[in-house]
Amino acid sequence: MVILANCEGLTGMPAARDALEAGRSVLDVVEQGVRAVEADPRVHSVGRGGHPNLLGEVECDAALMDGATRMVGAVGALSGYLHAVSVARELLQRLPHAFLVGAGAARFAAEVGAEPAEMLTPEARGTHERWLAEHLTPEQRERLGQGPLAPHAWRSSQTLISRGTVVVLARNARGEFAVGTSTSGWARKYPGRIGDTAVVGAGFYVDDRYGACACTHSGEMILRAGTSRAVVLAMQRGATMEEACADAIGDLARLRGGYLGPVLIHTLDRHGRAHVVSTHDYGDRFAACLWREGSLEIERVRPCVLATPGGGAT
Ligand code: GLY
Repeated sequence: MVILANCEGLTGMPAARDALEAGRSVLDVVEQGVRAVEADPRVHSVGRGGHPNLLGEVECDAALMDGATRMVGAVGALSGYLHAVSVARELLQRLPHAFLVGAGAARFAAEVGAEPAEMLTPEARGTHERWLAEHLTPEQRERLGQGPLAPHAWRSSQTLISRGTVVVLARNARGEFAVGTSTSGWARKYPGRIGDTAVVGAGFYVDDRYGACACTHSGEMILRAGTSRAVVLAMQRGATMEEACADAIGDLARLRGGYLGPVLIHTLDRHGRAHVVSTHDYGDRFAACLWREGSLEIERVRPCVLATPGGGAT
C-alpha cells in the first residue's frame, strides 16, 4: 500500500492513510486526502482559502480517476462549494459524462446536495486586493468588471505561488490505483480558465495495469503536452517510470510560445514505486509526501531536477 501526494497534499495524508488502512476503496482514499486539503484555508491554491480569479471569485477544478475501470469524474470552474472533488466523485458515479464545468457543474453540485461554502477567505481577499492596488491604476480597478481582462491575466502569471494544486495517488494491497486532484487554479486567472488539474490525460491519468501519474504547476504546458497520459502510455509501452518521466520533461522542454514555466510530475509505477521530477530546481520547497504500508512517518521526497542550470527543462 502506498500514497504519494504533492507538497500541498501534506494536510491530507493522515486522512488518506486512515482510509487506506481501514480497507476503504482507493477512490475513497484519494477523495479523503483531497477533501482535507480543500477544507484547509492555509493552502492558498486549493479549495477554501484559494486565490480568486481576476474578478475576485474562487473557481475550483477537481477530478478523480479509478485505475481499474478508467472511469473519470471531473468538474471545472466550480464556485461556491467546499469539496469540488466530492462533486467530481458524484459525477463519476451518477452521470454518463466525465466532465462538467461552470454553471452546469454548480447545478449538479446543488442537485446532489454538495456542501455550499464561501470559498474566499478574508486572507485571500486581502492578498487579492493588495495585488490589484499594486498592479492596477485606480481607474482600472474601478472598471475591472467592464473592461478587457486579458492584459491583467498575463501580469498575474509572473507569480510562482499562483499555480499550486493537490494531487493524491494511491495503490492498495490488491494493486488497485486511483488519483484525485483539486485546485483553485492560477491566482488571478481569467474567469472560466481551466488548467490541467481536472483534465484527464493532462493533469492526471491512471491505469491499474501500468501505474499512475499526476502533475502540478504550469497547467497550460501540461495541457499542451498531455503529460500524465504520455507518462502512463510510455510505461504501457515498456519504459521504466524514470524513462517515462524523463521523456515527458523533454517533451515539455520542446514547447514554444505561450506561457512557459515550471512543471512537476508525480508518478507511481505498477509495483507502487514512486518518482517525482521537476523542470526547475526549488530544493525542498515542493518536496512530495510519501507514505508506505508499515511506516509511522510521512516521508518527504525531493523532486529530481531534469533541467538546465538556466532553468530550461532538458
Ligand atoms: N496546475 C494547476 C493549474 O494550472 O491550475
